[in-house]
Amino acid sequence: MSTSVIILAAGKGTRMRSTLPKVLQPLAGRPLLKHVIETAKKLNAKNIITIFGHGGPLVQQAFSEENVQWVEQAEQLGTGHAVKMTLPVLPQDGVSLILSGDVPCVTQDTLQRLLDASTQTGIGIVTLTVDDATGYGRIVRKNGQIQAIVEHKDANDEQRQIKEFNTGIYCVNNAKLHQWLPQLSNENAQGEYYLTDIIAMAIADGLDVASVEPTLAFEVEGVNDRIQLAALEREFQQDQAKKLMQQGVHLIDPSRFDLRGHLTFGQDVRIDINVIIEGDCELGDHVEIGAGCIIKNTKIAAGTKVQPYSIFDNAVVGADAQIGPFARLRPGAKLANDVHIGNFVEVKNSSIGIGSKANHFSYLGDAEIGAGSNIGAGTITCNYDGANKFKTIIGDAAFIGSNSSLVAPVHIGHGATVGAGSVITRDVAENSLAFERSKQVAKENYQRPQKLKK
Ligand code: UD1
Ligand code: CA
Repeated sequence: MSTSVIILAAGKGTRMRSTLPKVLQPLAGRPLLKHVIETAKKLNAKNIITIFGHGGPLVQQAFSEENVQWVEQAEQLGTGHAVKMTLPVLPQDGVSLILSGDVPCVTQDTLQRLLDASTQTGIGIVTLTVDDATGYGRIVRKNGQIQAIVEHKDANDEQRQIKEFNTGIYCVNNAKLHQWLPQLSNENAQGEYYLTDIIAMAIADGLDVASVEPTLAFEVEGVNDRIQLAALEREFQQDQAKKLMQQGVHLIDPSRFDLRGHLTFGQDVRIDINVIIEGDCELGDHVEIGAGCIIKNTKIAAGTKVQPYSIFDNAVVGADAQIGPFARLRPGAKLANDVHIGNFVEVKNSSIGIGSKANHFSYLGDAEIGAGSNIGAGTITCNYDGANKFKTIIGDAAFIGSNSSLVAPVHIGHGATVGAGSVITRDVAENSLAFERSKQVAKENYQRPQKLKK
């Protein structure tokens, strides 16, 4: 049976007090709606239909790469009205999972259980039992069988005592949606077309309504304001951290670790506190990441040690390298095995060969550096003339003295030496020494100025 996914995302999100539509607010670095779409994709849904309204063009732009079908709900007349907007594009057969764009953490596992539970009945919902379900639609049961959902505002005192609530996640037979949705009325406390009224319609049609609980409670938490967003971010992060630890990653403190993307890792990876990992990253066996590092779309091979407060963005680091503290590897930094990059060294769009070192205060941009070379403290590749960028090429086993400026385009040959403090504007041949500095002046018995008497 084919499954469609319908995502409700038309609401305004007034309580966020943001210019960004609610479903574009980020959780773990990705828009709320992105999480829901990713989960929908894992279920091999035949089509993903997203209902948009507020901030429509922005929402559509943000997902222009995704294969989703957009349906507009120009006026927000209620959840039932929203789903009704999909009927012209909704298949007559199969089932639909109905999700909310602002309930981002629901898992494939929970949805699969909902699908399975609903196969027989044709309709099922995800419910959760809590101490205080204030605000939510309550699940009314008779002899254990679901009879209806009553919205908090429409509920009587007795119904408000019910602890089982509707999480807003449903699985419904498409033929039934085509039959029921046109019959919804808005005669209720909020004057809205309630999607929840289809439950009573199912009962009237003689169907049973299935229900499942989420595997973890936070899966069904919605985001209405920034406080809930921050709380959900923490729960999401804790859950990810727990999974990483179960798979063998050593997180020194899981409450001070943030993964905003996807991490691939080897054995015995150790991550100190306050590290942020973004995008797609890979850490090889025995990699150690010091406190406060930010690592984005970067690969670090086995055995490499990263000292605190180093920043990586689209970099590739070989095995057994030593990086930091306070190193900055920018896009296109490619370090071979055994490379050392020390404090306040910035590397951009440059390759550095096996065993080469730049240990202190340097800018290496648009450079190709061979193996076994030493880049002295304060070396700058002057790659930019204000209009164009040029390359610096340094061979193997070269020695660049401290505080040298290498004015690109320039080529330093294998085994060449550059004297400290040089401004190198011409190529340096293999195994030669080049230096460029004015002669030192000496004045003997020099008398320093004295302080003036007042
Ligand atoms: C709804 C359920 C309630 C459930 C709760 C769970 C109804 C009538 N009630 O409450 O039983 O406990 O969710 O959170 O369905 N939306 C639209 N268009 C609209 C209205 C809403 O797209 O016209 C979207 C919202 O953007 C949101 C979702 O539907 O993503 C749920 O809307 P919300 O207003 O939060 O739900 P409630 O009606 O409060
Ligand atoms: Ca809500």
